[in-house]
Amino acid sequence: MHRETLFPERVSVAKARTQFVCQNCGTVHARWAGKCDGCGEWNTIVEEDPTGGIGGGPGKTPKKGRPVALTALSGEIEEAPRIQTGISELDRVTGGGFVRGSAILVGGDPGIGKSTVLMQAAAALARRGQKVIYVSGEEAVAQIRLRAQRLGADNTDVLLAAETNVEDILATLADSGKRPDLFIIDSIQTLWSDTADSAPGTVTQVRVGAQAMIRYAKQTGAAVVLVGHVTKDGQIAGPRVVEHMVDGVLYFEGDRGHHYRILRTVKNRFGPTDEIGVFEMSDKGLREVSNPSELFLGERNEKSPGAAVFAGIEGTRPVLVEVQALVAPTSLGTPRRAVVGWDSARLSMILAVLEAHCGVRFGQHDVYLNIAGGYRISEPAADLAVASALVSSLAGIALPADCVYFGEVSLSGAVRPVAQTAQRLKEAEKLGFTKAVLPAASPEMPKGLSGQWSGIESLPDLVARIAGSRRALQRDEDME
Ligand code: TYD
Ligand code: MG
Repeated sequence: MHRETLFPERVSVAKARTQFVCQNCGTVHARWAGKCDGCGEWNTIVEEDPTGGIGGGPGKTPKKGRPVALTALSGEIEEAPRIQTGISELDRVTGGGFVRGSAILVGGDPGIGKSTVLMQAAAALARRGQKVIYVSGEEAVAQIRLRAQRLGADNTDVLLAAETNVEDILATLADSGKRPDLFIIDSIQTLWSDTADSAPGTVTQVRVGAQAMIRYAKQTGAAVVLVGHVTKDGQIAGPRVVEHMVDGVLYFEGDRGHHYRILRTVKNRFGPTDEIGVFEMSDKGLREVSNPSELFLGERNEKSPGAAVFAGIEGTRPVLVEVQALVAPTSLGTPRRAVVGWDSARLSMILAVLEAHCGVRFGQHDVYLNIAGGYRISEPAADLAVASALVSSLAGIALPADCVYFGEVSLSGAVRPVAQTAQRLKEAEKLGFTKAVLPAASPEMPKGLSGQWSGIESLPDLVARIAGSRRALQRDEDME
């Protein structure tokens, strides 16, 4: 006997059932709930009809498709049309300017300076004759004007609106004559649309709002910038979905206690990622820092042990930054390990390698590691600088002030080569460093540089070198 005839009701019930899908992570739930079990987000579960869409099974007859022309991979390429602000740190992270018809998301902690940088960009573009519309859902027009005054941007033709309703914003845009070249929404979390019935700031509203703005960008060729606030765990509140929808994602980072702000490219469909733009917050807005190395090395105390200069690369640009370590005898049963600006798991690894392969013991010592200037390093190439700073602090021997360090350390204690050796060394030389400790196997030893570059093969070599420098130092003192 056939199953259908055995359970006729069940078959028909199954067909009519709808499902509840989390809009953040895609988990399917049997019934609606306030919180998704899958990702822990609230208010993200929406009822959907599983029979609709591609692969939805029988039920609806799909509309007859229209064939599109298939084409070859080779062919003419149009350069993405860009609008440059003239603020070179900003143009760098966007890959050479905002792309017309594209949408980018600028994320960051509240108060970090997103509205400030965008107002400065808006003013710079308006001065170049571009039409810029700035829509704020967070501040009143008077407040925005006040900020613009402070930034010296109040005499530009930037058009303002304080509005949060998606339909009203679109109507305003349609009504404002020529389409804008740049259009800023501050912030995406304040948008709400009549078509979605959840509260503003929920994933559904944010998604609908972002979609409407992105559609507007694609249709008209305006460049759209969406501002998004970041939650405590470092993600743009709720709408990680927005990251997938936009063409570029920039994160604005920085330590509140410091003046430096770093705009970092996380995603870019029209240019390189891993680029950074460095700014300094002043009383007249954000100031560009075109040579970040000078900034991060600014307050260096060259005589004290525990400091090593790391020659790093951010995107296409070399950045020198000081790694500071403090190794002090512990009074606790379990010694402390504290890290600011670097990965703590990576620190544990370097400590373990130093203990296992070099006989350097940290078991009775607290270890503190700090990257100067509120900067954050993500490159493994910093391993060698960190190891040097640690050994230097433990042994109480200051490292040579005119030396930079870079190289990746493997678990075996070997020092492995890293990319862009020449660029790192050139930057170091430009800033007056004449020595470098780098992996012996570095592939592209640069020509035309006059410094002393010493290649080392393994971490024990490094330790021996630092210990050796104490002996040399003592000899010098004895001779005097
Ligand atoms: P803001 O751009 O409003 O931050 P966000 O939009 O990311 O929330 O920046 C606010 C902070 O910047 C605030 O703490 C004041 C400071 N600030 C200055 O120090 N100088 C300035 O010229 C401006 C406009 C702001
Ligand atoms: Mg703001």
